Amino acid sequence: MLNPREEVEVLLTEQELQTRLNELAEEIEADYRDKDPILIGVLQGAFVFMADLVRRIRIPLMVDFLRVSSYGQSLVTSGEVKILLDLTLPIAKRHVILVEDIIDTGITADYLKANLISRGPESIKICSLLQKKDNLVRMVSVDYLGFPIENRFVVGYGLDYAGRYRELPYVGCIEDA
Ligand code: IMP
Ligand code: MG
Repeated sequence: MLNPREEVEVLLTEQELQTRLNELAEEIEADYRDKDPILIGVLQGAFVFMADLVRRIRIPLMVDFLRVSSYGQSLVTSGEVKILLDLTLPIAKRHVILVEDIIDTGITADYLKANLISRGPESIKICSLLQKKDNLVRMVSVDYLGFPIENRFVVGYGLDYAGRYRELPYVGCIEDA
């Protein structure tokens, strides 16, 4: 096992992430005042982003998570999405914000948005920390985007490569991926 830091090239520093999160939280706060939104995090990648984001949003809200089938050991998506762990809260007539770590092909977000819409929410928007440029297979509109990034495999701040690197407080690329 390589030292989990030396081989990581930093793309977004902890400071850059925190500054952008403050801006995103402000936008969400302004848009959802008196709406009591439910933020739904997509496990596992979104857990760090979600934790930092909700602590900056100073209006009442609720949090839930769902888990979908992941890339496993692979760097590319299989194109198939399965819900492995579902919500605990009902979302009918609620204002929902789907919180993703990264949108790559858009297949996961597109599938989840359609799935959540079928449960009758009042509204649904997507918030993603990262989005890879020019890689969309499905057209998904990201309502709140942290950073557009180049089409490279990234880790850290919740994102993993084969289960590793989630704990890094920054986003980076690994040389061998
Ligand atoms: P999509 O369905 O292709 O948009 O992929 C979305 C999911 O793939 C994300 O929620 C991540 O879990 C994972 N993913 C996509 N790109 C990366 C990456 O560069 N690093 C780590 N995970 C990624
Ligand atoms: Mg994910």
